[in-house]
Amino acid sequence: MAASKIAVIEGDGIGKEVVPEGVRVIEAAARRFGLSLVWERFDWGCDHHARFGRMMPEKGLDRIAGHDAIFLGAIGWPTVSDVESLWTLLMPIRRNFQQYVNLRPVRLLEGVRSPLADPGAIDMCIVRENNEGEYSEIGGRMFPGADTEAAVQETVLSRRGCDRVMRFAFELARKRKRKVTSATKSNGIIHTMPFWDERFRAVSADYPDVATEQYHIDIMTAHFVRRPASFDVVVASNLFGDILSDLGPAVTGTIGVAPSANLNPERRFPSMFEPVHGSAPDIAGKNIANPIGQIWSGAMMLEHLGATEAAGAIVDAIERVLASGENLTPDTGGTASTTALGTAIADAVSVHAKPKVAAHG
Ligand code: IPM
Ligand code: MN
Repeated sequence: MAASKIAVIEGDGIGKEVVPEGVRVIEAAARRFGLSLVWERFDWGCDHHARFGRMMPEKGLDRIAGHDAIFLGAIGWPTVSDVESLWTLLMPIRRNFQQYVNLRPVRLLEGVRSPLADPGAIDMCIVRENNEGEYSEIGGRMFPGADTEAAVQETVLSRRGCDRVMRFAFELARKRKRKVTSATKSNGIIHTMPFWDERFRAVSADYPDVATEQYHIDIMTAHFVRRPASFDVVVASNLFGDILSDLGPAVTGTIGVAPSANLNPERRFPSMFEPVHGSAPDIAGKNIANPIGQIWSGAMMLEHLGATEAAGAIVDAIERVLASGENLTPDTGGTASTTALGTAIADAVSVHAKPKVAAHG
């Protein structure tokens, strides 16, 4: 395999602590499977903003457009407004690189306790639309400061935008349990959401072998809590997908293990791999953040780069270390540090799993 060039952006807060653990584990997998990876670091984020007045250099995107993937920690820090930090770094990457699928697997892993009494075997994939929807730049403010002040923000759903993310969801379902659930709210949001439903029906017609269901987002959040194991692939608009992808991992015990892939399926641009969690200023700098969300995102990155076996070995190592109950961080009931958990997973990747003893010799 030719060397894959990876742009690394640690970003802010715990991003700086979990990314090195992700790199450590991926490097362990690279050594074991003979992959050649070239890491290039970009010190973009709120520190960069403090020094240079911007989150990344002008033309920053041009500098990473030719990379094979982007490995990102987290963006955001109290010193910079969210609108500034996110909309001049994270969002431009997602949008300019047409990463229109935000793929967020949600699984209940052995060794992690769900807050639910009877969670069942939770194993779903949230496919979140990542380029349009409620996260639009169309809108504005009128009469600022006056008592007539008003703000407007328009949701944008396009046929192309809906169809391509829905198609991705159906294709994914074909490799899984062949069921797609669509999150909607067409009873209250009467223009965009009926359109979403229409496109869902139209796209689903091409996949007669995949079962479908749809729920309004309000009751869907209840189903996520009451019977999370019944979901396979969930497709949702940008905002609904954002909400569900915090709720899903919370139901599996911790958002600290949740990974995500911002995918440009056509591979015209690099895709970006980042944990679902944010920069977590409340625990930053303490070396207690759970690095698994970042490490698992690294496995998704290797999978995307075609290193399927290496990706599987990382997920397997995560599962074994969690199940062992050792080296766990505080969010999963342990007392270990970020570094200790990252190192334990890297070791587990290097030391092959004990071969299973065959039932009959
Ligand atoms: C996420 C985050 C971002 C989003 C924020 C930081 C803008 O919550 O990746 O889920 O809403 O997409
Ligand atoms: Mn979110």
